[in-house]
Amino acid sequence: MENKGIPLIGDRFPELKVSTTHGPMTLPDELSGKWFILFSHPADFTPVCTTEFYAFQKRYDQFRELDTELIGLSVDQVFSHIKWTDWIRDNLNVKIEFPIIADTGKVADMLGLIHPGSPTHTVRAVFIVDPDSKVRAILYYPAELGRNFDELLRMIKAFKVSDDQGVAMPANWPNNELFGDDVILPPPSSEEDAEERRGQEGCLDWWLCHVPLED
Ligand code: BEZ
Repeated sequence: MENKGIPLIGDRFPELKVSTTHGPMTLPDELSGKWFILFSHPADFTPVCTTEFYAFQKRYDQFRELDTELIGLSVDQVFSHIKWTDWIRDNLNVKIEFPIIADTGKVADMLGLIHPGSPTHTVRAVFIVDPDSKVRAILYYPAELGRNFDELLRMIKAFKVSDDQGVAMPANWPNNELFGDDVILPPPSSEEDAEERRGQEGCLDWWLCHVPLED
């Protein structure tokens, strides 16, 4: 059943026509066939957000190598985004290459980006959307905590392996304390399947099996 409120994991990302620093965009159709990360920040010209934009841009090539686009968002006008990214370019020597949505508050409402702890600004939200325009992950951070962008790279890599190989990823993958970079087999689908797994190499029990990554 499709959720009609704020998008949740498994929902299709809602249709949005937005103004950005790269001109108008229609989401998710314009990025269909690619992964994308839409992330909101509280406001332009704020310190933590500035460090976040720097960190995201520094990893932009790595995201593009994973066929993943980035889109920023805040309730600020395009001219403010431009002035701020010009400041980042002139002072931190980094050109922000990804588009930033200039929201009037409409998208923030639709995506659930205004929370009680931050009623006047969008929270730091992250939506990870797959090539079929399906929401695969949603993260929320408060204003006082900058995000970990290496974790977002890890998530995209993990989703791709999970989708390609039909497996799940253990904690801290690929540096799991028990299984290294091995991946987890999904639960058995029958008693026969479960029985087969008993005593199988890599199975601690019939419901807990790890296997090496396929090449
Ligand atoms: C910041 O990015 O530094 C920030 C933004 C909103 C509230 C607090 C901090």
